[in-house]
Amino acid sequence: MRKLFNITSVFLLSLFCLAVSAQDNNFYPGKIWNDADGKPINAHGGGILYDKGIYYWFGEIKNGKTIRVEEDKSWENYRVNAGGISCYSSKDLVHWKNEGVALAPSTDSTSELYFGKVIERPKVIYNAKTKQYVMWMHIDSKNYGYARAGVAVSKAPAGPYTYLGAVRPNDAMSRDMTVFKDTDGKAYLVCTSENNLTIHVNLLSDDYLKPTAIFTRILIGQNREAPAIVKHHNKYFLITSLCSGWDPNAARYAVADSMLGNWVVMGNPCTGEDSATTFHSQSAYIIAAAGKDKYIFMADRWQKTDLPDSRYIWLPLEFEGDKMVVKWEDKWHL
Ligand code: GAL
Repeated sequence: MRKLFNITSVFLLSLFCLAVSAQDNNFYPGKIWNDADGKPINAHGGGILYDKGIYYWFGEIKNGKTIRVEEDKSWENYRVNAGGISCYSSKDLVHWKNEGVALAPSTDSTSELYFGKVIERPKVIYNAKTKQYVMWMHIDSKNYGYARAGVAVSKAPAGPYTYLGAVRPNDAMSRDMTVFKDTDGKAYLVCTSENNLTIHVNLLSDDYLKPTAIFTRILIGQNREAPAIVKHHNKYFLITSLCSGWDPNAARYAVADSMLGNWVVMGNPCTGEDSATTFHSQSAYIIAAAGKDKYIFMADRWQKTDLPDSRYIWLPLEFEGDKMVVKWEDKWHL
């Protein structure tokens, strides 16, 4: 009888734990974040697409051993092989299903997608005219000298994506980047250019596949990268980091009335302890939660000597008038 009671209580307790974990709608910034299969989400430097009630998270797949590359004496870096681009899907931004590899790396050393090169910061937008999903990403050589923006397309949000090639927008370098699709359907490629000194905002062609000749130079000479953009109450907000490789630094934001307009530099949106290092992370994207008027600052806490163990820092991003504020939370929900 007692044994039966024990078995029943263990069973009930497991059911209770399962129910609690299934209901957990919290974000835990910096903690290991598992997908629906119980495997850590592998989607670094990522971006989010919202499509027909589903969020898609695209990111860099980082697997294997981290090595230190010493190309010459003035330059060093920690690297893993490019694993291609992953895609996860979710209805609530907390629970994610692995949708597989959206864009695979190549084993051909002459390809821009060669696994020994760099494929970073993928961002996907939907083109209503061509009915295609368009992925832009940072394409580079092992020593980051190639400095181009690559583009790929798919008929389905999760892919697989067909790679079209990489460009130097308006003949200028392009490294860390994001894409932003405005409410009028126009889209922009925003990239770190001029040897990481100045950000360029490039208007994309109507099919989103090419930068047009219309572009503007912003944050001139300010050494900013890791751009992330959101539109709030008809103003455009851009968060960037300083350039210090995988090491964190202080974020800064800028505000403009239009994407190609005058960007006014504001301060650090992060407040409180560790704000000087963006809570030990670097900006990747800003998520506008559908129908909620709520925003999420999405960042990477790079683990430079073990890059696959880099963690995700997702924090609430709030507006106080024209002021943007990001505060640390150990645990929070939308
Ligand atoms: C950072 C950049 C990352 C990655 C890294 C390599 O500055 O934001 O995306 O490229 O450098 O060191």
